[in-house]
Amino acid sequence: GWKMKKYHIVNFGCQMNERDAETMAGVCEGLGYVPADGPEEAELILVNTCCVRETAQARALGRIGELKRLKDGRPDLVIGVGGCMVEQPHVRQQLLAGAPHVNLLFGTRDLDRLPQLLAEAVEAPVRRGEGKPLTVRRRSAFRALVNVSRGCDNRCTYCIVPAVRGGLVSRPPGEILDEVAGLVAEGYVDITLLGQNVTAYAHDRPDYPSLGKLLRRVGELGSRRLRFLTSHPRDFSPQLVDSLARVRGLCRHVHLPVQSGSDRILGTMGRGYTADAYLRLVGEIRQALPGVAITTDGIVGFPGESEGDFAATLDLFRQVRFAAAFTFLYSPRQGTPAAGWDVQVPLEVRKERLARLLELQNGISLEMNQAEVGKTVEVLVEGPSRKDKRLALGRTTTNRAVLFVEERPDPGRFKWVRVSGASPFNLYGETLGDA
Ligand code: SAH
Ligand code: SF4
Ligand code: F3S
Repeated sequence: GWKMKKYHIVNFGCQMNERDAETMAGVCEGLGYVPADGPEEAELILVNTCCVRETAQARALGRIGELKRLKDGRPDLVIGVGGCMVEQPHVRQQLLAGAPHVNLLFGTRDLDRLPQLLAEAVEAPVRRGEGKPLTVRRRSAFRALVNVSRGCDNRCTYCIVPAVRGGLVSRPPGEILDEVAGLVAEGYVDITLLGQNVTAYAHDRPDYPSLGKLLRRVGELGSRRLRFLTSHPRDFSPQLVDSLARVRGLCRHVHLPVQSGSDRILGTMGRGYTADAYLRLVGEIRQALPGVAITTDGIVGFPGESEGDFAATLDLFRQVRFAAAFTFLYSPRQGTPAAGWDVQVPLEVRKERLARLLELQNGISLEMNQAEVGKTVEVLVEGPSRKDKRLALGRTTTNRAVLFVEERPDPGRFKWVRVSGASPFNLYGETLGDA
């Protein structure tokens, strides 16, 4: 009998990829496909890849390899691979030669053309309407990601992102404001403005407003919560710090990747700030936004990192007291400057340092969360907790995950919760009622 064709998207990587996957889903639905429950049921599978670290790339390649079995059983299955990983010429070659079950490779800047590319791949009639904004299939009905820029003009010596995502391109403020206004009208209450380096917004377009001004205008549109990701400490201007207090709905959370606490390593990374400058900035942000949670990214075992350099990182983490941190083993990326340096830190040393940093940060995260016990916090309900179905998961303005007992949680609702317990990664509490 007749049935709707189904699509499935496998997504890896950061929020930028999450947002791109929503566009991919919209394109699939524009071609008449409906969401499948899993890859086995789908006639069209898209894999959106990441390559920021070797582990991310290995995971994506592994998943693509697994799909071969599905394709062997169902030759009509169409498989497309997109995202950052396929922007690397050597990986593209590897896939073209070694993965004939993949029908289509598309890059991070091919999304505008994806309707045509996919239509060709699935042999559907190409529709008119080129140049029209792509329809988006958003995963959440209350939390939305909004691009404000793409690409990055920095050249951090470890980072593959500029090579695979290209240089900075800021989006016109009018488009951003229109998109957010539409989202607010649809009932979205938590908006995140996204950029690879969001604090570089308008650096390529002096005629655009600064990020601080943009945030204030977006705030006026009335979303209850507003966030921005990811900031670069060097580009976090004094004007932006000044604006923070005046942005309506701005969440008390700033993600500010520090990478290292050693000035020498920050220098060879090309980050453009010192540990002292970073500490000063954190102080200013905390003064501007009382109660703000500062989170970070750190890289351990960058080429040339000595025990003393690493001690400086531990020291900085102790001084700042981050609410949470993502810490990574340095991963050499082909074509980046640092990958070619002959002072690589042995894997065993990198692993041992990462374990020490994790242990330190877990202790700090726990203490920071314990300091919340006894407070009443406003949470945005996300739904049932994945780990324990009897608990509901919500998030505070500081982006802390709060677990509380609730029979049938109402996603998108704001609740008051009294915090009664803490672990390094969660708060626990009881609801007091609607907020
Ligand atoms: N655009 C953001 C995010 C980049 S990727 C930014 O510039 O901050 C997210 C994090 O991955 C980075 O902050 C960094 O900590 C980490 N990362 C990037 N390249 C890496 C590499 N080669 N090895 C290990 N970690 C890396
Ligand atoms: Fe991965 Fe970086 Fe691309 Fe995001 S931008 S998907 S983290 S490689
Ligand atoms: Fe990467 Fe540095 Fe840009 S971490 S995305 S090159 S700011």
